[in-house]
Amino acid sequence: MRHSARILVVDDEEDLRLGLAETLQGEGHQVETAGDGWGALEHARALRFDLALVDLKMPGPDGMVVLDQLKQLSPETLVVMITGHATVESAVAAMRLGAYDYLSKPFKLDQVRLVVRRAVEQKRLADENRRLRQEVEHYHRFEQIVGKSALMQELFRAIEKAAPTNSTVLICGETGTGKDLVARALHQRSPRAKGPLVSISCGAIPEALLESELFGHTKGAFTGAHADREGVFESAEGGTLFLDEIGDLPLPMQVKLLRALQERQIQRLGESRTRNVDVRLVSATHKDLRQEMQQGRFREDLYYRLDVLSVMVPPLRQRRDDIPLLVEHFLRKFNPEMGKALRGASPEAMAVLMRYDWPGNVRELQNAIERAVILQDGPQLQPEDFPLGRSGQPAPAAEPGGELVSLEEMERRHILWVLRQTDNHQSRAAQILRIGRRTLYRKIREYGLDLPEE
Ligand SMILES: Nc1ncnc2c1ncn2[C@@H]1O[C@H](COP(=O)(O)OP(=O)(O)OP(=O)(O)O)[C@@H](O)[C@H]1O
Ligand SMILES: [Mg+2]
Repeated sequence: MRHSARILVVDDEEDLRLGLAETLQGEGHQVETAGDGWGALEHARALRFDLALVDLKMPGPDGMVVLDQLKQLSPETLVVMITGHATVESAVAAMRLGAYDYLSKPFKLDQVRLVVRRAVEQKRLADENRRLRQEVEHYHRFEQIVGKSALMQELFRAIEKAAPTNSTVLICGETGTGKDLVARALHQRSPRAKGPLVSISCGAIPEALLESELFGHTKGAFTGAHADREGVFESAEGGTLFLDEIGDLPLPMQVKLLRALQERQIQRLGESRTRNVDVRLVSATHKDLRQEMQQGRFREDLYYRLDVLSVMVPPLRQRRDDIPLLVEHFLRKFNPEMGKALRGASPEAMAVLMRYDWPGNVRELQNAIERAVILQDGPQLQPEDFPLGRSGQPAPAAEPGGELVSLEEMERRHILWVLRQTDNHQSRAAQILRIGRRTLYRKIREYGLDLPEE
């Protein structure tokens, strides 16, 4: 896929200047020209260029001066110097001053096309990385949660609404989607933020110890209870109690938890007095609690107590437009840890990441990036750094009895399918899909389907 760039051509030889301009316009670029250094600087002050082709020897300010000024006016502009063949040394000097490449006269137009294509691609990647970096730094994050997809924006709004209330919140979502982060955000955005946030995982604690963990015990309440001990309900006093994996809570404990929530009182094991507790309860599960309820493994009355407000964290495969942002986020995390300076993923590697279904969600992506950062010694992540199990072959259409997916996901898969069937022939694909080419192009970008041309 080719990108249109804004290019400045500066040369005092008119024939050459016009020839270059014509060639680059023929490549689909937008071209401005100048016949000397003055004209070049005037253009540079008025417009932002992706690329400038600058003759070294000119009347007025020469190429070196123009290069220097350009770098100050817009550091992102890539500069290719045009030099006479006797001046390779000055070309080298120009490179040292920040020129991206050089063309020595006389050159063939094919050579120009090649150099410009490479520069434009380089500029596009640099822009893309800069944009992602800014997004990760300044926008598209909610507390520690990174995301810009519509689904994540919806989640952020749900958290914003739920956080200030004192109601119990149930967080549902597949493993690795970020439920822990959501619980933390709910606490941090609540009036209880200065109080403690205490988490326990109901699935990780042996059943015999659960009651004491939740409610505490007195000395001698059971064998091994050597001293009085408070439970998490008391530790979370004035703050938030996060009960993770609530779906794993055994039925007898569900009864006790329900009572504590109803009465806002608890009893330590081995003690007859009751204690008032002031905690806000947040719970999370990757299980389908309704189904657990139907099968008698989860109490209905407790479910409705917990699910006063519910927050759904969507799986990563339903919000693929978050993937580039998360990749950048995790690179910023792992680069310094591993002593690397990787700049993003190559387009081919990104295509692999966009295609994969991520059953382990963001956690799996995070692990994949961590491993890739260790493996890769070049400047960018490459496809071979991601030996991902299923390559996410597109499905032709919804199979009866198959996975239930959103309309959006269906559209993504269908477009990918048609593109594959037409060997990535976009006009044909657009015809088959009965949409305009531009619409198809936009959707390809949106869904991250732009595969490298094969
Ligand atoms: N949107 C996100 N932005 C940044 N990091 C994320 C995001 N979602 C998840 N992570 C990271 O991915 C990892 C897994 O997230 P988390 O532990 O919150 O998942 P979970 O839903 O609680 O999973 P489980 O059900 O297995 O407990 C964590 O390291 C977390 O920091
Ligand atoms: Mg968790």
